[in-house]
Amino acid sequence: MDRIRIRGGNRLNGEIQISGAKNAALPLMIASLLTDDTLTLRNVPRLADVTLLMRILGNHGVDISVDGKRLGTSGIQGDTMHLTARTIVDTTAPYETVSRMRASFWVLGPLLARCGEARVSLPGGCAIGTRPVDMHIQAFENLGANVEIDQGYVVAKAPKGLRGNKISFSKVSVGATHAALMSAVLARGETVIENAAREPEISDVAECLVKMGAHIEGIGSSTLHVQGRERLHSATHEVLPDRIEAGTYAMAVAMAGGDVHLLGARTDLVGSVIDVLDRAGVSTSPTNQGLRISRNGAGLKPVEVTTEPYPGFPTDMQAQLMALMTRAEGTSTITETIFENRFMHVQELARLGADIRLNGDSAAVYGVKRLRGAEVMATDLRASVSLVIAGLAAEGETTVHRVYHLDRGFERLEKKLGACGADIERLAS
Ligand code: UD1
Repeated sequence: MDRIRIRGGNRLNGEIQISGAKNAALPLMIASLLTDDTLTLRNVPRLADVTLLMRILGNHGVDISVDGKRLGTSGIQGDTMHLTARTIVDTTAPYETVSRMRASFWVLGPLLARCGEARVSLPGGCAIGTRPVDMHIQAFENLGANVEIDQGYVVAKAPKGLRGNKISFSKVSVGATHAALMSAVLARGETVIENAAREPEISDVAECLVKMGAHIEGIGSSTLHVQGRERLHSATHEVLPDRIEAGTYAMAVAMAGGDVHLLGARTDLVGSVIDVLDRAGVSTSPTNQGLRISRNGAGLKPVEVTTEPYPGFPTDMQAQLMALMTRAEGTSTITETIFENRFMHVQELARLGADIRLNGDSAAVYGVKRLRGAEVMATDLRASVSLVIAGLAAEGETTVHRVYHLDRGFERLEKKLGACGADIERLAS
């Protein structure tokens, strides 16, 4: 298994190009199941999760190429993907695939809507909490499907097709909103989705569905009105830039010091992160091309932050912020409200000398004068990048093990940071 070695202490200066958003690319790829025409996606990030989803969709019968080439052994090289689900050959998604990537559970909605049945493994245990799928099931049942759990599989059937209805979610869920939306576009009649998640990646998928012929009103709001269509057709769509990647590099620059231009970052999507960085004393300035981040000499001020659904501070930035606050001049409080148990990075940050105390869903982060390099273990995607951020400021050498977690969601991370002056390298196993 590859590792990443960082020698801390270098400031970051230069430019970093922000890639397409993983959390939009995955559901956009899944949306290809809704039509027998070709869906073309541009700005697809080259990530392990994307490659895995290509294989999963391939098993369902989707024909996929990237820049004209089918998936080989070396992963994808280009960023324009063509997906054609002319014939669905299999409506089952087995445990082996869904357990490796939770988002692959989202194939259930489109398969059910298009084929009238689907059998998808429950995602199973996950490193960042229990993450149930009860609200997904509620959405399918509201649309008239019969849903049963059979030997670890969610089996959903709607032989006469789905019927539009009201779906009112008790809490905000990104996945359940994707599921409801991607089912409702092919249901008969109108569906109203209340308390929908407003994450920009949902709007991106909704806009792509509209290009495919879907009728959706209220995009970007918490109430979506969908008029079902008999069929959808081909479309071309560009994946929006990754706001979590942009926020992560912003935290890295804040940690290491320096001045970096995040090219392609959409400042309108990272408002909550900019707000926190401003409060921490980091300089942020929107530009025509993206977002410029700098910290030169000034110390970091502690902050009080609670994770919330969009437009609040994202849970996917919580670990990175915590890494940053380990070096603040004072005590920060970070409260996690989206996922229980999303604090696995705390014990790894402690190996670098961080002083963090947990109390239920809150962490008190006592800023320390210095971090010292150590061997640390990546436990999940965002936790792993928090260790890289800490390593940038730690004295000496930090080695992050299990970087396959990083590869799931960050495209060429060591190259992007290295080009800005970080002393970072990947060590092959
Ligand atoms: C998505 C993102 C993930 C992000 C998360 C929250 C993708 C691929 N993943 O994950 O990066 O951290 O949103 O912004 O886009 N819940 C239920 N019942 C359900 C579904 C969810 O109780 O049926 C709960 C979850 O346990 C969690 C909360 O709702 O406490 C939010 O989860 P959700 O928004 O669904 O997360 P994901 O879609 O899995």
